[in-house]
Amino acid sequence: MSKKKHVTLNVNGKTEEFLAEPRELLIYTLRERLNITGPHIGCETSHCGACTVTINGKSVKSCTMFAVQAEGAEITTIEGIGGPDNLHPLQEAFKEHHGLQCGYCTPGMITRATKLLEEIPNPTEAEIRFGMAGNLCRCTGYQNIVKSIQAAAAQMSAAKEAAE
Ligand code: FES
Ligand code: FES
Repeated sequence: MSKKKHVTLNVNGKTEEFLAEPRELLIYTLRERLNITGPHIGCETSHCGACTVTINGKSVKSCTMFAVQAEGAEITTIEGIGGPDNLHPLQEAFKEHHGLQCGYCTPGMITRATKLLEEIPNPTEAEIRFGMAGNLCRCTGYQNIVKSIQAAAAQMSAAKEAAE
């Protein structure tokens, strides 16, 4: 049996410390060890993006790394983006514009989209489709996902202008 390693993570603003085997994938750390079940497992082969989280400011598929590789990292999951009482504009927009059907891909989609809108606050449709290419959806045909991200971008830009 491999030797367990001490891991410290900051997840959604909370420090988590535990001993993990080197083979433990980060998605399992989040879901099974920390009970943070927003990030989903769709493929475990880095294709679907259902497990997307933000690690140190970058979108990462959490099935592609081991927990020990995330030592010291700041991680944000969908739970850290917004909840029922404080929906993020992207969550509002997905709800309003039917950006989801079964919802399985949605936590990863929205988590990725938060970074996309940080990188490109007013993306074109092509930029949205390119920027979201690592996140697959089996239900929606993507049209309403694009529409939701466009709506959130407009809403966030307007809010930013109003605040200036
Ligand atoms: Fe990680 Fe599909 S579960 S990319
Ligand atoms: Fe079902 Fe995307 S809403 S997989």
